[in-house]
Amino acid sequence: MTEGFEVVIPGRAETNGTARRPPEAAPDALALLGAYRDEHDDRDRPQPEPEDHRCRCGLCRDADAYLRDVVRGTLTERVLTVADVAALLGIAESALPDACRAIVAGADLRYEVATGMAAHTEIVAAAQRLATCEPVGPHRQPEWDAGWADVAARYRATGNPATLLPQYVQPAHRVLRFRGQYIWPVSPEFEPTILTVIQAWYATTWLKDAPVVCEFGCGPGHNLAAFARHRVRSVRYFGLDWSLAAVALVREIGFEGRLWDLRAPTAAAAPMPFGAAVVTCGALEQLGADWRPFFDYLARARPAVVVHLEPFVELYDPTQLFDFVADYYHRARGYLAGYLTHLREQEQAGAVEILHLAKHLGSRDHDGWTTCVWRFR
Ligand SMILES: C[S@@+](CC[C@H](N)C(=O)[O-])C[C@H]1O[C@@H](n2cnc3c(N)ncnc32)[C@H](O)[C@@H]1O
Repeated sequence: MTEGFEVVIPGRAETNGTARRPPEAAPDALALLGAYRDEHDDRDRPQPEPEDHRCRCGLCRDADAYLRDVVRGTLTERVLTVADVAALLGIAESALPDACRAIVAGADLRYEVATGMAAHTEIVAAAQRLATCEPVGPHRQPEWDAGWADVAARYRATGNPATLLPQYVQPAHRVLRFRGQYIWPVSPEFEPTILTVIQAWYATTWLKDAPVVCEFGCGPGHNLAAFARHRVRSVRYFGLDWSLAAVALVREIGFEGRLWDLRAPTAAAAPMPFGAAVVTCGALEQLGADWRPFFDYLARARPAVVVHLEPFVELYDPTQLFDFVADYYHRARGYLAGYLTHLREQEQAGAVEILHLAKHLGSRDHDGWTTCVWRFR
């Protein structure tokens, strides 16, 4: 008869149905199992506080999102709704002009939020770029001229107004700064679309009653062209820039171009009739701390309203890493310094009134698009 294999059940021992004495090891195994169970059965024990996985960098807003990114490396997809776009402009949803709603309705405004490790990757890249920041200043004038000459050539070759869009707002998949986080637009048209919304908002609210609109540092005139698309009555548009190529292009697309230096303004910039509006978009940015001559010019010309789309260093919170890198970048590039502080002091002194201040969207390195609207009292 063949020996059967042994089935040893703790507490019992049988071999092919034949009763046998339990092996010596059985009681010990049972004891071990019991001890193991006692050790791992925490039901009656006080539970330790859950471990706090939140990162302290200021970017990982919530522990769950952080963990999810660490575990899966995924990002979250969102979409800018009409309400979000109104919030982005700093206005009530009910105040969002129809022109802006129409743009939002026809656009792909989906984006992914870089949280957790993805945000870390972006911020490390931003920090690394700080080492190669080139300061702006009067020495860059030939570069601006060459850049606008390129845009002019592109426009002349195609006749397509879309080619007026500056190189730095060209459609692209890239990281942007939005509401204290890095985001990745799904569509390459995301950033240009937001600019179109801002232009429509300016045209239909702040500029809507102006008989004259002057854009200082106008570049190729794409903002003027956008404002003119929403015009409901006769308006004279002036584009002023220190680049001859820019001024020539502005004239070519049907507006009044003037060669003008923001650092050394002359009285003869443009007519400023009652109700005239002044606009700057990314132009004061280039002046660093040298904005005083321009402000004094405005104080003499006294436009009805001044609308800026500019980066304001005063709005960063450098105690947050996310803002620290942008604040550093802004200073390293020598961008606009002290202007908003001056406006606020002027407001305190009763000389001006700030009507609107809202941060919208930033490029990967800094918050370039903040609207500040003000007027002289
Ligand atoms: C960032 S671009 C902005 C152009 C345009 N406003 C836009 O929204 O795309 C800066 C513009 O300011 C102009 N600029 C810089 N410094 C200037 C100065 N001192 N006087 C006049 N224009 C200046 C440049 O030629 C350029 O057109």
